Amino acid sequence: MEKMPFRDAEGVMDVTAVINAARATTNETNWRQALPVLTGSMVTLRELRLSDAPSLLAMLATEEVARFISPPPTTVEGFERFIAWTHRERAAGNYVCFGIVPHGMDTAIGIFQIRQLEPGFGTAEWGFAMGSSFWGTGAFIDGAKMVVDFAFDVVGTHRLEARAAVANGRGNGALRKVGAIQEGILRKSFLRNGEYLDQTLWTILDEDWRRAKSVWGPRIH
Ligand SMILES: CC(C)(COP(=O)(O)OP(=O)(O)OC[C@H]1O[C@@H](n2cnc3c(N)ncnc32)[C@H](O)[C@@H]1OP(=O)(O)O)[C@@H](O)C(=O)NCCC(=O)NCCS
Repeated sequence: MEKMPFRDAEGVMDVTAVINAARATTNETNWRQALPVLTGSMVTLRELRLSDAPSLLAMLATEEVARFISPPPTTVEGFERFIAWTHRERAAGNYVCFGIVPHGMDTAIGIFQIRQLEPGFGTAEWGFAMGSSFWGTGAFIDGAKMVVDFAFDVVGTHRLEARAAVANGRGNGALRKVGAIQEGILRKSFLRNGEYLDQTLWTILDEDWRRAKSVWGPRIH
């Protein structure tokens, strides 16, 4: 999901919205109106707010966070435009972006994103980034489990893909840890700083996730 963050909002086809609307169940349509608040043991996931822009700038627009992802905005205004775009794309039914808010804080320190790779989200792609001061704290796995549940149980995804630059040790480690399966290498598939990088393609299937959950037990709280 190296390429997903911070894209512009061009090129949404009306036909996609029509197909989505036709396929949607009651459950699936609700998230298009507003994302639910998901509460974990360490973090809350909620819709981004414009007031998250300064925090997201401080957390995500750093060299170590942005090294292997599409370049984040470089100003508060740029993040405000990104946040407004996430709301429009969610309302259009194309995309979901949760802000990660650690318990005891008010603002987002990172994001989880899901975008459809086909109309109706049957195959979707997710991605994530957090401020480096929160790496290794358990915030990622806490949020990741809720986002994957949301994709499979609410959005209706059956195959969830992620792409991580092969050189991105933490990104690949995080995906392995959450139970994703490495399907292959996408050679020279991601342009970053003028260089084409190889990416690992990771996937989680809904049936595998549900089987693994029966071992983990119910959603962690
Ligand atoms: C991806 C990200 C959200 C993961 O959050 P995190 O808190 O760092 O993840 P965790 O620490 O829970 O898990 C990472 C795992 O990778 C392991 N890891 C760290 N560096 C590694 C390396 N160089 N090689 C292999 N594994 C590595 C960690 O040890 C950890 O596993 P463990 O908990 O079993 O020890 C965070 O690192 C981030 O925001 N990175 C920058 C943005 C980014 O690259 N996004 C991913 C795009 S696919």
